[in-house]
Amino acid sequence: MKKSLLFVCLGNICRSPSAEAVMKKMAADRGLDLHIDSAGTIAAHEGERADARMRGHAAKRGYDLTSISRPVVIDDFENFDMVIGMDASNIFDLKKIAPESAFDRISLMTDYCSSFENNSVPDPYYGGEQGFELVLDLLEDACEGLLDALE
Ligand code: 4NP
Repeated sequence: MKKSLLFVCLGNICRSPSAEAVMKKMAADRGLDLHIDSAGTIAAHEGERADARMRGHAAKRGYDLTSISRPVVIDDFENFDMVIGMDASNIFDLKKIAPESAFDRISLMTDYCSSFENNSVPDPYYGGEQGFELVLDLLEDACEGLLDALE
């Protein structure tokens, strides 16, 4: 069965759409067929494309952010093998809505990092340019580790 991964952040317009795009590209490069999606713990940006700043930084590294923001729904915990949050507050919010039987599907993105020792992918929304670059650096490191773990 095809493995399925859902990346989750707060708004689903910066970090998790980037994680989705990075993972799709890296999985394709390795010839791995995965089902990959992203969602937010809030619905404030539902229906919107990813943040233009995030899209710009990602494009410079060859990633095309095409996802449209949507909130996490209860069925996600049944439909996805892995639900991966970007920071501790995402994990906290996910555990508020997930059935306890799905807690073992929830994990933290930076736990898959090998080069970086950060314990979150920080929200870049209110910060400067370097915040978006750090998001991509962390996501690239974590996605490599996650793919290694899946292979
Ligand atoms: P994201 O970034 O969680 O990485 O998509 C944010 C986007 C929007 C908001 C916060 C974080 N917001 O407060 O609207």
